[in-house]
Amino acid sequence: MEVIILQDAAEIGAVGADAVAALLDRKPEAVLGLATGSSPLAIYDELARRCDSGTVSFRGARGFTLDEYVGLPAEHPQRYRNVIDEVFVCKVDFAPGAVQGPDGLAADIPAACAEYEAAIRDAGGVDLQILGIGTDGHIAFNEPGSSLGSRTRIKTLTRQTRVDNARFFGGDVDAVPTHCLTQGLATILEASHLILVATGRQKAEAVHQLVEGPVSAMWPATILQLHPHVTVLLDGAAAQRLQLVDYYRETYRSKPEWQGI
Ligand code: F6R
Repeated sequence: MEVIILQDAAEIGAVGADAVAALLDRKPEAVLGLATGSSPLAIYDELARRCDSGTVSFRGARGFTLDEYVGLPAEHPQRYRNVIDEVFVCKVDFAPGAVQGPDGLAADIPAACAEYEAAIRDAGGVDLQILGIGTDGHIAFNEPGSSLGSRTRIKTLTRQTRVDNARFFGGDVDAVPTHCLTQGLATILEASHLILVATGRQKAEAVHQLVEGPVSAMWPATILQLHPHVTVLLDGAAAQRLQLVDYYRETYRSKPEWQGI
């Protein structure tokens, strides 16, 4: 796991966008895994700028989102399919229909989850997955106690996640749905490269557990320690509880230029 501590969201955006651009350069038909939430916005904004200026294109690429609230009406602005369209997809040049998400309005939820797994598999799997992390250590919406071998399924959101996400629902925690569909931890682990972004002091404990804690369903993100290619992009505040912070900084400073992330 590579831990990179950067100055601010703008630097995180640039490093993350470099990785996506390099992938699209060598594989224009790449499959991207797209998180919603605040953390990846700097990367999406930077990619939108580069797409505008013609240095990167998503024309041949495909995308899969991580998760979806159950039961939000199709036109609800916080439905993740609408969120990803607004913050990223409509700002770049994906082909129509190239980005999909799990169907939180499906009548048969288990069938919709199985179909989503099959769609990812049929697309050849995710080449690069962008992730955020919850304050309780979730990735996608795999809350504490999630099976480390889980696949796409329905989950109940923790109170803490609903409180954290109330900011997207006018501060009203009761407006945040109680259930979601989420890619499982085993699903996420099948991506070739994972880039996890975390900023701010409120993420510091979850980041410490992710990087330095024991692998445990209590901190689901710790399963990433088993993946051979994970890049963690942090600002100083999110890194403040890391025991080996000086080592991570030194490693990045002295990293061979040819290595990439
Ligand atoms: C959303 C997702 C979640 C978020 C996490 C952090 O698709 O997968 O795991 O990444 O809740 O959210 P933010 O980035 O808003 O702090």
